Amino acid sequence: MNATLIGSGFGDEGKGRMTDIFSAGADIVVRFQGGNNAGHTITVDGEEYALRLVPSGVVRGKTGVLGNGCVVNLETLFTELDSLRDRGLNPEIYVSKRSHVVFPYHRVLDQAEETAKDDDATAVGTTGNGIGPAYADKTSRRGIRIGELLDPETLRTRLEHVVPQKRAVAEAVFDIETGDEFDVETLFERFRTYSQRLKREDIVVDVSSFLAQREDAAIVFEGAQGTQLDLDHGIYPFVTSSNPTAGGAIVGTGVSPQTVSDGEIIGVVKAYLSRVGSGPMPTEFDEEDAADFREQAGEFGTVTGRPRRTGWLDLPLLRYATRVNGFTAITLSHLDVLAGLDELRVCDAYELDGECIDTAPTSPDEWSQCEPQYEEFETWGDHDWLALAEDGYEALPEEVRAYAEYVSNELGVPIYALGVGPGREATIIQENPLTQRRTPKRET
Ligand code: GDP
Ligand code: IMO
Ligand code: MG
Repeated sequence: MNATLIGSGFGDEGKGRMTDIFSAGADIVVRFQGGNNAGHTITVDGEEYALRLVPSGVVRGKTGVLGNGCVVNLETLFTELDSLRDRGLNPEIYVSKRSHVVFPYHRVLDQAEETAKDDDATAVGTTGNGIGPAYADKTSRRGIRIGELLDPETLRTRLEHVVPQKRAVAEAVFDIETGDEFDVETLFERFRTYSQRLKREDIVVDVSSFLAQREDAAIVFEGAQGTQLDLDHGIYPFVTSSNPTAGGAIVGTGVSPQTVSDGEIIGVVKAYLSRVGSGPMPTEFDEEDAADFREQAGEFGTVTGRPRRTGWLDLPLLRYATRVNGFTAITLSHLDVLAGLDELRVCDAYELDGECIDTAPTSPDEWSQCEPQYEEFETWGDHDWLALAEDGYEALPEEVRAYAEYVSNELGVPIYALGVGPGREATIIQENPLTQRRTPKRET
């Protein structure tokens, strides 16, 4: 049994902490898209880990894999590995030969493009990590793969081809005074050093065959970003440049579609909505409510520290995510954050051009015009959430259960885990398909 965890919204739904929960029964945790634009937080016994590239399962000592669908910033990867080792963990990590390298010029060009778009208010609000330009190079067959770094001659040839083009674009289009980020020799030396470390650590593999050789292993596919940020299925152009939806787990690792679809596909849902970056968000709070809520909820980006935009839970958006990904279950976290509100609403449908629609439209213009139709819910007060988590689902206040059951019924899928705080122990696990499958197997 495998499980694929997918962000249902605009990212930061709690994928890291839920991956940590479900990976208890896994052998391998695989990231299949994105790069260091992700920031996945896991909190265990008050220790917080904010991971950007290393899969969240390593906190439990599981093998971590970065699939071909990822774009890899090697500086971030090595810094993260060093820091985890300093903290007493021993992460076992493998990186696909086919994954693409994020170079310093990608970062510069990402930021330059955003600045240029600022002028006509079309900036996406990217994390500025060069993710879009790295995927653009991959698609236009100009990218450099991790496997190509390992051979110095290939690395030099590829850099000699690509860097002058990048420099020309930076200078002519964006009017940037280019420096080391666009210098072949500097880049060659720096990335040769990285490649030597990759070789020393012996971590570059063909991920598709690596996973195929471990056919009995239980795998968690850990999505980054979220469905509404998907390049194809999110609200283009306010998206990231990869496919965080469930299909991405297949294409981004080289496993068969059955490997993913025979397992569970779990939508990670936050009890309200948040977003960093631009684009429509029909249930967004007005400025004053958002400021109060943000302080209460601590809604600041894990990667950029930017304040997150916040709003009411949006069922049309979640129905869409359930359909596109084929969720077989969801998790519902941040229920504690909603404690103490004066009112509690969920958007049940939108009104668009006089019609009632119950799923997300396809264009940002349409989405901006959607008028949310709200259901009101009973609010709940603050509690000793850890004690409630220990006592289990039935101990939760009736209002919390009513809220959770409404969401589950509307989406037509069960809730496998509820989060009432950031920590591992603040989780109510209703079902963990991986541990359940493995217990009988161990007994035989
Ligand atoms: P990810 O990108 O989906 O892994 O999510 P992030 O880690 O970027 O953001 C989620 C934030 O919410 C982190 O700071 C988590 O520690 C925190 N968090 C996760 N689940 C809960 C929860 O149930 N309650 C509270 N209060 N915080 C949570
Ligand atoms: P995790 O995995 C929240 C958003 C950016 C921007 C858009 C494009 O932690 O949920 P990019 O740098 O990818 O080109 O930015 O996507 N974004 C995220 N928002 N969580 C993330 O990752 C995100 N990764 C990218 O804010 O709107
Ligand atoms: Mg995050």
